[in-house]
Amino acid sequence: MAMLETERIEELRRALSKPLPEIPSKYLYDDHGAALFDTITRLPEYYQTRTEESILAACATDLIGRVKPLALAELGSGVGTKIRLLLDAMQRAGRMDSCTFLDINEQMLSESIIALRELYPGLEVRGIRGDFERDVDRLGPGGNRLVLFLAGTIGNLHPDAVPGFLGKVAKQMEPGDGFLVGLDLVKDPARLEAAYNDRDGVTAEFNLNSLNVVNAMFDADFDVRAFQHRAFWDAENEWIDIRVRARTPTRARIHAIDMTIELDAGDEIRTELSCKYTRESFERLLEGTGLGISAWYTDDDELFCDALVQRV
Ligand code: AVJ
Repeated sequence: MAMLETERIEELRRALSKPLPEIPSKYLYDDHGAALFDTITRLPEYYQTRTEESILAACATDLIGRVKPLALAELGSGVGTKIRLLLDAMQRAGRMDSCTFLDINEQMLSESIIALRELYPGLEVRGIRGDFERDVDRLGPGGNRLVLFLAGTIGNLHPDAVPGFLGKVAKQMEPGDGFLVGLDLVKDPARLEAAYNDRDGVTAEFNLNSLNVVNAMFDADFDVRAFQHRAFWDAENEWIDIRVRARTPTRARIHAIDMTIELDAGDEIRTELSCKYTRESFERLLEGTGLGISAWYTDDDELFCDALVQRV
């Protein structure tokens, strides 16, 4: 087995040792998981992607006019096509130097880089393989930069971790720089739950795949067929809680962390949180970070928002 960083090992051990065991949600995004997520973005129930695309198309000129960036960067970029809406607006404004992607998935990164170099000759395109929470400082110093964190991915962070993360982002920003954050807004619970329990079972497969990823990366033997997908709205915390639930008693040995986990039927492992926001709840998370909202771009139905955050 390939050597793993001790940090990764400790992180998984800590996560699986919690009273409600967890698997870090970045393990949803191996090549298969990234492809499944791409399918999710086109599901009828998953309104987020198409809504954000329409918001970005509508706000691009205003946004670029406010920030006047020379550089764009994107955290957790995935397939990275939304950024083109903003690059096109920068091109129209006649200012565009460089673009940086930071993503956990190597293949996504290289595909995004190749596509952008072809579409925008003269643009300097760079990729950083990393985890947005840990590696945001690898973006390097800002100045005339707009950093994108789209799709509602900030919702994967537990609210307790958000101010620390935003503080790290703030450190990389110069006055006038922008941080554009995609936020999925609080709405009808039935609509939210449907987005995470699609009819075709793609989300279920995406979720259960995280057990395959842990099996492969940490030399473990989770019996994936013993688990089922579960996603539900937690009204108190305003998040969708995503878990795998044991259908039958099952145990797994995770060799790389020298741990055995035993589950009864009905026991669960949390694989992802997807927090939903209101303007007020997001403003509370910004308190004390030195950042504030300077534009709130939303769709007519207020399903989703791209918030422009800047130093105050
Ligand atoms: C990529 C984190 C924005 O939280 O909606 C989709 C991931 N998980 N369906 C989300 C996801 C299950 C997605 N983000």
